Amino acid sequence: MGKIHLISQPEILLVDDTPEHIEAAVSVLRENNFRVRIATKGNTALKLIKQHQPDLILLDIYMPEMDGFEICEIIKSNSDFSSIPVIFLTASNDEESIKKGFALGAQDYVVKPFNISELLVRVNTHIKLKQQTQSLREANRELDSFCYSVSHDLKAPLLSISKLIEYLASDYLDKLDSEGQELINNIREKSMEVINIIDHLLEFSKMSEMQMQTEVIHLEQLFHKVYDELIKLQPKRQIKFNVKHLPDIKGDPVMIRLLVLNILSNALKYTRNRKKAIIEVTSSESESEYIISVRDNGVGFDMRYASRLFGVFQRLHSQNEFEGSGVGLAICQKILKRHHGKAWMIGEVDKGATFYFSFPKT
Ligand SMILES: Nc1ncnc2c1ncn2[C@@H]1O[C@H](COP(=O)(O)OP(=O)(O)O)[C@@H](O)[C@H]1O
Ligand SMILES: [Mg+2]
Repeated sequence: MGKIHLISQPEILLVDDTPEHIEAAVSVLRENNFRVRIATKGNTALKLIKQHQPDLILLDIYMPEMDGFEICEIIKSNSDFSSIPVIFLTASNDEESIKKGFALGAQDYVVKPFNISELLVRVNTHIKLKQQTQSLREANRELDSFCYSVSHDLKAPLLSISKLIEYLASDYLDKLDSEGQELINNIREKSMEVINIIDHLLEFSKMSEMQMQTEVIHLEQLFHKVYDELIKLQPKRQIKFNVKHLPDIKGDPVMIRLLVLNILSNALKYTRNRKKAIIEVTSSESESEYIISVRDNGVGFDMRYASRLFGVFQRLHSQNEFEGSGVGLAICQKILKRHHGKAWMIGEVDKGATFYFSFPKT
C-alpha cells in the first residue's frame, strides 16, 4: 500500500517553437534517460497530451497562434490533466510572465538559456512530487475501500446480534429479575450504538467513491426541509429556527442533503439542554465563494481542541452526555472537499458553536 513506483523513463512533453531551444533541451533530457516528445504548436501539444499523458510538460511562453499561458490554462482547467506538472520556459528578468504562469497553476519556471543541472533538478523534483501525490491518493483510496469493506462485513452479523437480543428480550425479559432486565437493556442500547457507528462509517467511506451528480440546489429550502424532518423526532422542544437568504448552489443533491443533515443534527443535539434553543443559518459571499454559517446557542466546545473536530471518531463530548459516533463532521468535510469547499467551526464552552462552510460559486 502506498508504495512509490518510480517510473524508469519518465516522459516529458516539450512545447517550444525555437529549434535551438528544442535541440538543447532534448539532448540534455535524453542523455539523462527521459523520453521526450516535442510539439511546436499549442494545438499539437494538446493533441499529444490527450493521446498519452506525459509525466511533465516544459512549456515555452511565446509561440505564435496559442501562447504558453493559454495552453497552461486549458491543461489546468481540465481535471484529467491538471495534475501534470507544468514548468514554464521564460526569458530572464521576465517577472510578469513568471507571476502570470504561477497564477495559471504552473508549478515552476526555468530561465532560458538553460542551466543544465538546474533544468534537471527541477524536472526531477516535480516528477517525484507528482508520483508521491499520486501514491498518497491511492493509499487514501485503499483506506477508504478498506473502511468500507470492514464496515460492510461487520454490519450483517451486528444486525443479527441485535435481532437475537430483541428475541431474547421479548421472550425472556419478564422471567428475569431487575438486574437481568437492566443487563439486557444495556446490551440493547450498546448494540444500537455500534450499528449507528457502522452506518456512519459506511456513509463516510462511500463519500469518496460516489459518482457525483451536479444540479442546482436551493439551500434555503433544503435547510427547512431537513429541519422539519429532524424536528418531528423531538416535537416537544422549544426552538427558534431562523434561515436567512441562502444562495442556490450547484452540487450533488444526495451529498449536500447529508451535509445539511449532519450540521443540523449537531446543532439540535448540542442545544438540547437549552430551555429555548436558537439556531440561525445565514450566508455571506465574496467574488468566488459563498460562506454559510449555522450558529447555535448550545453547550459549545473548547477551541483548543477545534483541530480534532473533523477527524473520524473524534468527539469533544462524552457518550453519557451526548450520544454520537464522531463521524458526522468527517463526512461533512469529505463532502465539502469533493465540492472544492471548506468546513470549519468556532465555539466557546457553554456559549454555543458555529459551523461554517465555504462553497465555490461555479
Ligand atoms: N453544534 C455543536 N456544538 C458543540 N459541539 C459540537 C457541535 N457540533 C459538533 N460538535 C463537537 O464535535 C464532535 C464531532 O461531531 P460529529 O463528527 O458530528 O460527531 P457526533 O455528533 O457523532 O459526536 C462532537 O462530538 C462534539 O463534541
Ligand atoms: Mg454529529
